[in-house]
Amino acid sequence: MAVLRFPPDENVIDNDAEVRVALGKLGIDYERWDLSRVGADAPADAVLAAYSAEIEAMKQQGGYTTADLIDVNPETPGLDTMLARFDKEHTHSEDEVRFILAGRGIFFLHLEDKVVSVEVHPGDMLRVPRGTTHWFTLCADRRIRAIRWFQDTTGWTPHYTGSGVDQEHQPLCFGPAYFGPRVSTTLNA
Ligand SMILES: [Fe+2]
Repeated sequence: MAVLRFPPDENVIDNDAEVRVALGKLGIDYERWDLSRVGADAPADAVLAAYSAEIEAMKQQGGYTTADLIDVNPETPGLDTMLARFDKEHTHSEDEVRFILAGRGIFFLHLEDKVVSVEVHPGDMLRVPRGTTHWFTLCADRRIRAIRWFQDTTGWTPHYTGSGVDQEHQPLCFGPAYFGPRVSTTLNA
């Protein structure tokens, strides 16, 4: 489930089909993919093997040459430095393609004179075309596990706009960090 917002409006779209249509109109590909192939803690090789068909199909479709798995959590060394590279408005000379397996984050897309935010969750596949002005930040739980595709890994660097627009938007994510079942307790009087 992705959550689409159009700040400063309060308008929110969190229905998968509607998100797909709305993003499609903006030139952004969005799909929901099956998450049941591998366990949440499966090693990178197992994840890439489990999704090999989708990885190859995406390579054919977009001209990507490689795919990998990024996996960060609050204990990842250098996480702040890593995030600081991408939370300022920038573009890339190739597409930014992500399939989210765990964690959450927000892509802010600056399209013409409007900013659209896309909060991505596990099961979301998002493809941001090359040249799209955007920035990315993690939610408060600072966790993301995602398959990434590349046309040329040496070319995947941020080109900063220096606009400062990113400073005008709070990276607030929807709801609690944990969506698991509630724990009921029994009081023994
Ligand atoms: Fe980016």
